Order: sequence, then structure tokens, then C-alpha cells
Amino acid sequence: MPNASPCNVVVLLSGSGSNLQALIDDIQGSESAARICAVISNRSDAFGLERAKAAGIATHVLDHKNFPDRETFDAALMALIDSCQPHLVLLAGFMRILSGAFVRHYEGRLLNIHPSLLPKYKGLHTHQRALDAGDSEHGCSVHFVTEELDGGPLVVQAVVPVRVDDTAQSLANRVHAQEHQIYPLAVRWFANGDLRLGSEGAMLNEQLLPATGHLIRT
Ligand code: GRF
Repeated sequence: MPNASPCNVVVLLSGSGSNLQALIDDIQGSESAARICAVISNRSDAFGLERAKAAGIATHVLDHKNFPDRETFDAALMALIDSCQPHLVLLAGFMRILSGAFVRHYEGRLLNIHPSLLPKYKGLHTHQRALDAGDSEHGCSVHFVTEELDGGPLVVQAVVPVRVDDTAQSLANRVHAQEHQIYPLAVRWFANGDLRLGSEGAMLNEQLLPATGHLIRT
């Protein structure tokens, strides 16, 4: 049943926004309690803004280049986000490192998606790094955000087998397809009140999730 009080979600992005699209499609096609009330980008040319507009979602651009430093930008970003009164804030390809003040302000209601099986391959170029290391498995992760870059308690991971003939692009395509499954899943859990950040880690239905988060093998 749809929840009587929706879970207001704000999405931050800098690029294509295919994860945003997966979230929009999931919310429209299911009885999710989530409701995306705004999409915010630091780049006015982010295609994700077009996806949001097409879905009737309010959009905002806050260009970090107009601010003298990270702290000032983050303070303005927080004010903008808070004006939407979100229950949940999602990083969906938001290419900015966030200050400690920002992360602490949204503790327990800030999720990120990352294209690797964390804690492996934090940062960029994850697909090439997995290939270079000769890994047989790669994947993606959704996690609560803490002050450690791409750290924080894991919620769900999808494992993607690496093929012998994979290129970084072919591997990225299969990982991306899994991102579009696990981010909506995590958001549904949170919006329905099943997922929360506890003192020892991510809790699903009041059970502490394993260090990997909920593991999905594809
Ligand atoms: C994804 O690979 C996500 O894991 C990373 O940024 C990328 C965003 O892709 N954090 P898109 O803009 O959602 O297509």
C-alpha cells in the first residue's frame, strides 16, 4: 500500500542521470513511498536536469564555481536542500567532495551509489582498475555516506562477473545496469521505513546488515 506520508527525496547529480531515471521509473511503476521533490546539479548542462524536468520534478542549479570555497558552496547547498525538507538525500553521480559539515548534517539520510564493490576501488576509473587487477568479480555498491570518501556502512552490493573479453566500457555497461536495480531497491527500503543507519551499521528490518551490505549475485 502507498504510504500515507511520502518520503521526500532530493537527488544531487552532475551528469547523465541514468540513476535518477531508474529511480523515477521505479517510483512511477511501484507503490514506493518515495517522492522526488527536487533535483539539484552543480552543472547547468547536466542531462539529468532534463530527465527531471520531463518527469515534472523541480530542478535547481548551484554552480560551485560561483563560490569562493567548498565550505561556502556546501552551506548554500544545504540551505537549498533543506528548503525542500527532505527525509532522504541521494548522491547520484554528484562529482563534488562534500565537507564534513555537510555529511554530518545529513547523517543517516544521505546515500551514495558507487561503481565498485566497496571497499575496493574508491574514487574514479573503477572498471579499468578492476580489469588491471585481474579481478574475476566487480560490481556496484549503495552506502550511507560518512566523512570517509566512498566509505560508510554498505546497504546493498550487486556482484557482476568479469568476462575474459571485457573492456572497461563493456564492464561499465553491465555494472551500470545493476546500479539501476540496487539504488531504487535501497530507496524503497528507506522510504518504507525498513532501512536505517544504526550505531553499528546499516540496519534492514532491525537486523544489522553484513559488512558487504545485502549481497546480490548476477
Ligand atoms: C554512476 O556510475 C555512479 O555509480 C557514480 O556516478 C555515475 C553516475 O551515472 N557515482 P549516471 O549519471 O546516474 O548515469
